[in-house]
Amino acid sequence: MARRASRPILVLHGPNLNLLGTREPSVYGRVSLAEVNRAIQRHAAARGTRAVCRQSNHEGELVDWIQSAAREGFQAIVLNPGALTHYSVALRDAVASVSLPVVEVHLSNIHAREEFRRRSVIAPAAVGQISGFGPMSYLLQAIGTTRLPQVT
Ligand code: DQA
Repeated sequence: MARRASRPILVLHGPNLNLLGTREPSVYGRVSLAEVNRAIQRHAAARGTRAVCRQSNHEGELVDWIQSAAREGFQAIVLNPGALTHYSVALRDAVASVSLPVVEVHLSNIHAREEFRRRSVIAPAAVGQISGFGPMSYLLQAIGTTRLPQVT
């Protein structure tokens, strides 16, 4: 019997991440958002699931997508909130109000950068934070499962 595909993962990229590849390449690298999304989709497919990737420069649109994720049938959310990480209480409250697990992701190591980036208002509401591994940050979580990854 064919294995039932698991519910898809929603990947949300926040403000300015549409400029990946050309934006401050010394910090964020030269890989475009389209290439990052393709890597995420390949990674999900290899694990029997599907990733749907969206980007917005608008806080309210990200809030709307988080609120409707369960209704849309997603099993989990991977969120790079961009600069909203550091001050958006609205985004933090959206993350706290959904029953789906939300993993916070950053390309750069926000704890090794300017003081204002070291604080995430999202982190206390997320199941975890992955920061500093470039595009790999998006692939390190247990895509395809909402359980903690097993170390074998
Ligand atoms: C970022 C880190 C944020 O501080 C910054 O504002 C971004 C990108 C990252 O992925 O490293 O836009 O979220």
